[in-house]
Amino acid sequence: MKNKKRILSGVQPTGDLHLGNWLGAIKNWVDLQYEHETFLCVVDLHAITAKYDSKKLAKDTLSTAALYLACGINPDKCSIFIQSQIPAHTELCWILNCITPMNWMERMIQFKEKSIQQGNNVSIGLFNYPILMAADILLYDADLVPVGEDQKQHLELARNIAQQRVNAEFGKGEPILKVPEAIIMKNGSKIMSLNDGLKKMSKSDPNEGSRINLLDDADTITKKIKRAKSDSKVGIEFNNSQRPESRNLLMIYSILNNKDIKDLEIEFENTGWGTFKKLMIEQVIESLLPIQERYKVLIDDRHELNKILLKGRENAEKVANKTLHRVKSHLGFY
Ligand code: TRP
Repeated sequence: MKNKKRILSGVQPTGDLHLGNWLGAIKNWVDLQYEHETFLCVVDLHAITAKYDSKKLAKDTLSTAALYLACGINPDKCSIFIQSQIPAHTELCWILNCITPMNWMERMIQFKEKSIQQGNNVSIGLFNYPILMAADILLYDADLVPVGEDQKQHLELARNIAQQRVNAEFGKGEPILKVPEAIIMKNGSKIMSLNDGLKKMSKSDPNEGSRINLLDDADTITKKIKRAKSDSKVGIEFNNSQRPESRNLLMIYSILNNKDIKDLEIEFENTGWGTFKKLMIEQVIESLLPIQERYKVLIDDRHELNKILLKGRENAEKVANKTLHRVKSHLGFY
């Protein structure tokens, strides 16, 4: 147990989780949980960095936790917890705010992209988002952080804060914080929108048809895939840069039915979009069904869900408070 490497990761409870969240994040956690000591949080404090509905926050938070479990996260192996229930996250975030240079933050690509989307409503919290994420990670002395491509820069920031701003300045030769490594999954880490194979599948895309939510019913899945962008060529290819939609759907298909992309490319060499989409629809419905069934049971068993979240919180809190204490004492607090 002791020498297992530690993992920390999280997903925001904004709206419904979709295929991209599952294949890009949660599915990888499921594969990693047995060989690692795993902490998984529902990052509700990140969810309020954009305009949100206070009537839905609690419900979405619980539903996200239930989906982690429904996707195969084992509560006996992982600590699942809600970020806002552990005050150490916000406290360490404040301390890191004060020692992180402004110009490091001004480079954050996701902030630039999101602030364009949000127009006049950009909050300071959105700017600070990567620091809160650094606090999430550093509190747990995480060795490894499984993230999608788009979070690489945020992970690099967490590493720099730990190394250059905390350890180098306050450590007197001994490290205070562990410097984490990213795990970027080869496949799945970038599931693209159904309408645009060059844009990431995202909860914040105003077009519902751009993503498949994990709780979508068979009719909705069918409609969305039928309407998904295609092209006028025959054959489904992976490595043709002119055909990003073909690449994206083939990748999703290959992960869901566990077949090699290379084999599928041969199998679909002469297949048209109509036939491929039919297979795709069947596959997606079949793959999501067991998740949806488990989800229904869990979300109706509030007692069990709360018990799992309480245990996760207790485990997480012990580790987080110890780290926070260590940081505060090195930084000179009374
Ligand atoms: N920013 C991450 C995302 O949107 C979510 C996140 C918050 C996270 N804190 C984290 C991921 C800590 C990994 C580790 O994908």
